[in-house]
Amino acid sequence: MKISIIGTGYVGLVTGVCLASKGHDVICVDQKQEVIDKINNLITPIYESGLEELMIKVIKTGKLVATTDLKSSVMNSEISIIAVGTPFGNDKIDLRHIEKSAWEIGSILMDKEHYHVVCVKSTVIPTTTDTLVKNVLESASGKKAGDFGLTMNPEFLREGKAVEDFMYPDRIVIGAYDNRSFETMKHVYEGFFDAPIINVNLRTAEMIKYTANALLATLISFANEIGSICEKTKDIDVKEVMESVTLDKRFNPRINNQLVNPEMINYLKAGCGFGGSCFPKDVKALISYSKWAGYVPQIIDATIRVNKEQPLKMINRLEEILRTLKGKKVAILGLAFKPDTDDVRESPSIAIINSLLEKGALVYGIDPIANQNMQKIIPEDRKSVWYSTDYKEALKDADAAILVTSWAEFIDIPTQDFSQLMKTLVVVDGRRVLNKKGLEDVGVMYIGVGLS
Ligand code: UGA
Repeated sequence: MKISIIGTGYVGLVTGVCLASKGHDVICVDQKQEVIDKINNLITPIYESGLEELMIKVIKTGKLVATTDLKSSVMNSEISIIAVGTPFGNDKIDLRHIEKSAWEIGSILMDKEHYHVVCVKSTVIPTTTDTLVKNVLESASGKKAGDFGLTMNPEFLREGKAVEDFMYPDRIVIGAYDNRSFETMKHVYEGFFDAPIINVNLRTAEMIKYTANALLATLISFANEIGSICEKTKDIDVKEVMESVTLDKRFNPRINNQLVNPEMINYLKAGCGFGGSCFPKDVKALISYSKWAGYVPQIIDATIRVNKEQPLKMINRLEEILRTLKGKKVAILGLAFKPDTDDVRESPSIAIINSLLEKGALVYGIDPIANQNMQKIIPEDRKSVWYSTDYKEALKDADAAILVTSWAEFIDIPTQDFSQLMKTLVVVDGRRVLNKKGLEDVGVMYIGVGLS
C-alpha cells in the first residue's frame, strides 16, 4: 500500500520504517527540514535500537522516502497516519498538533478524488478522533466522514524495543469509523501473522491505549506503596514480599516446569518511580479526561501521587542518616528514566537532583549515555552539578550514592570500589539491584527502597 506518515518522531519513524520493511511504499513527512535532511542522509533523528540499519535498507530499496511536502504525500498515498506529539499541557492533553495535522490533511482531501483513510496513531484521549479530528477533517475537506475513511490505531512500543515491538505486536488495535475504513486499514497489517486484529470503535481504541499504560504505571505505584509500608516495619523486605507474591501461577506460570517470568512482573518491583515520555503524561491525561467526562478517578490519581513522592523518599532517607545534605557530595548513579536509553524525560533523577540542590548538596551525576540530555534540563555548572560517564569520579570522596537507573554497568560495580572511593559509606539503592550483603560486608550502610 502507499502510506504517508505525518510526524517523524519515535512513533512515526519506527512505524514508517517497519511498514516499509514489510513491503509498503512509505512517505515520511515532517515540517522540520533538518529532520527530513537527516533521514535522507541516512541518519536517524532519534536513537532507537535497530532502527538506523533498517531505515538505511528501506531508503536504499526505495520503499521509504522523506519529505516536507505534505500535499504530494497525501495525494500519492491511500492512507495518512498521524503520529505527531500529544504532550500534557497545564492541566490537560495538548491536541494542537493533532488539530493542525487534521486541518492540513483535510484541506488536501478537498481536491483528492480517490478514497483516502486518515489514521490517528498518536495517543489521544477518548472521543478525540470521532469528534475533533472528524469535525476538522470534514470542515477542511468539505466532505463527510465515509467519503474519506477514519481510523485510530494506537501504538504499544517501548522505547529501546520499539522496532521489535512493532514487528512482533501482541495485538493490533484498529478503531474504525466504518467498515470500509477498517478493511482498508487491515491491509496495512497483512504479514503480521500471529497478531490478533482487534476491531473496535474509535473511542474504544483510544481507551485501550490509555488503559494499557495506566495499568502498568499503577502496578509500579502499587509495588512502591507496598514498599513504603515495608519501610515502616522492621525486618520486612519488599523484594522478598513481591518476589513471593509474583510466584503465583496467575502472574508467573510454569511451562515444562520452568517459570515463564513474564515481563509484567518487572512492573511489580519497588523502585524510585516511573518516568519516560509516556506513563506520566498519559496517566495525567486520562485523569484529566475522566474528570471532564464526569468521574473523579481514585486509583490512577493515587498512581501519580505515589510516583511524585517516590524519588523524594530517597532524599528523606538519606537526610535522616546524614542529618544535613548541605555541602555533601552525592553521586547519582543513572540519569536516564530506564536503562538502555538516553531519554531523561520525567526521569526520577530530575526530582532527586533538584531536591538535593535545594538542600545545598553537591551533585555528581553519571550515566553511560544520558548526560547530554540531562544537561538540557539541569546544566552542569561545575560548582554544584557535575556529569560524567566514569562512576569512579562520582564515587570519589562522595558522602553518599543513590542508584536511580538500573544500568548493568552500575550493578557490576565491585563493592570495594564503593568502600575504597567514598568518604562516607552510604548507598541508597533506588532499584534494589545492588548486592546488599556484599556492600555491608565491606562496611557500606545499605539503604534499599522498601526496606527499613
Ligand atoms: C511505555 C509502555 O511500556 C509501552 O507499551 C507504550 O507503548 C509506551 O509507553 C508508549 O505509550 O508509547 P516506555 O515509556 O518506553 O513504554 O517504557 P517502559 O519500558 O514500559 O518503562 C516505563 C517505566 O516503567 C519506566 O520508568 C521504567 O523504569 C518502568 N519499568 C519498566 C519497570 O519498573 N519495570 C520494567 O520491567 C520496565
